[in-house]
Amino acid sequence: MDKLRIRGGRTLKGEIAISGAKNAALPLLAACLLTDETLTLSNLPHLADITTMANLLAQHGVDIHLNGQGGAHGCQGRVVELNAGTITSLEAPYDLVRKMRASVLVLGPLLARFGQAKVSLPGGCAIGPRPVDLHIKGLQAMGAEIEIEGGYVVAKAPPGGLRGAEFVFPQVSVGATENLMMAAALAKGETVLVNAAREPEIGDLAHCLIAMGAEIEGIGSDKLRIRGKERLHGATHAILPDRIETGTYAMAAAITGGEVELIGARLQDLQAVAITLAGANVAFVPTERGFRVQPTGPLLGVDAMTEPFPGFPTDLQAQMMALMCVANGASMITETIFENRFMHVPELARMGAKITVHGSSALVRGVPKLTGAPVMATDLRASVSLVLAGLAAGGETVVNRIYHLDRGYERLEEKLIACGADMERLKDAT
Ligand code: EPZ
Repeated sequence: MDKLRIRGGRTLKGEIAISGAKNAALPLLAACLLTDETLTLSNLPHLADITTMANLLAQHGVDIHLNGQGGAHGCQGRVVELNAGTITSLEAPYDLVRKMRASVLVLGPLLARFGQAKVSLPGGCAIGPRPVDLHIKGLQAMGAEIEIEGGYVVAKAPPGGLRGAEFVFPQVSVGATENLMMAAALAKGETVLVNAAREPEIGDLAHCLIAMGAEIEGIGSDKLRIRGKERLHGATHAILPDRIETGTYAMAAAITGGEVELIGARLQDLQAVAITLAGANVAFVPTERGFRVQPTGPLLGVDAMTEPFPGFPTDLQAQMMALMCVANGASMITETIFENRFMHVPELARMGAKITVHGSSALVRGVPKLTGAPVMATDLRASVSLVLAGLAAGGETVVNRIYHLDRGYERLEEKLIACGADMERLKDAT
């Protein structure tokens, strides 16, 4: 398995182009199943999770064409054309779903368009149990009959297809909101989703569905009203820039005391992070091409609590913790979305961080300097937090198991090296 070697202590300076959002791209790819016409998506990031979703769609029979490989850095701004005119299988097999939970996003579209679907239950995950009960309950509210058989969700629409319904989420769920919104776009009548997720990726999916002929109101609010259509048509849609990649590089700049312009970044998607970091003496200054991250004083400890959008994102919690490890003073970081998202803590501790976990909160006492060490993590954001720590640490850090990073960060080391980071990928000879 490849590793990443980082020699810390370099101040990042320069600019980083932000890629298309992984978590917007995954549901958008699944949306191709809603129509027999071609869906064209641009700004597709080149990531392992995107390949997994493409493989899943291909085994359903979707015809996929990838263009535009010739961007400035190889794969930047790729365009994909997806045609689900001939679907050959309504089953999402365990082997693909277990690789990536977002595979469950094919359930709503397949059920809505074809009246049935069989999708493997994703199973456990490094950051918590992550059930899919809300996806199932929402589809049941629309009239679907759902059984769990042999580890699979086996779903059937009622005769005449799914029916619009009102569904109140007992807990905010990004994936379930996406699945139900896609299903509702082809259901009979109106669906109202109450306490829906408001993440920018939901808005991006809604805009694409509207371009495909859907009628959706309430984008950006927690109440979505979807009027179902008999059929949807092809469309062209540009995937929004990745706010989590943006926040990660903002914190990478901050942890080195550097100054980096994030090109194409959308400040409006990161308001909670901007406000929190302002308290830590890190400013996000809007520019014509995105925004610039710059220090306004010594890095200070501040508290952060993860919440559904527009709150502080759980997908930036590990990176924020790495940053707080070298701040002046203490910081309380509270995780409210996932039960087990502190796996980076013992690894950061191996680099000299002072962190005490009490339930869902971690108390971080800033130290003047971390020290490099061999480390590894079991999920994407935890892994990248170790990269950030390595950038600030004295000496050499080797991050193992970096296939996690390749799931969600496009050309990570290339982007950081261009800003002065001293790092390299060590290919595994075996
Ligand atoms: C999305 O996951 C993201 N993934 C995650 O990104 C992100 O951490 C998460 O939203 C929260 O923002 C994609 O968009 C592909 P949820 P999702 O349903 O949709 C519970 C990353 O690093 N829940 O909003 O799976 C669940 O257990 C990642 O890129 C139920 O109880 O998250 C969690 O505690 C990983 N029942 C909470 O809700 C359900 O049916 C929020 O989960 C569904 C969820």
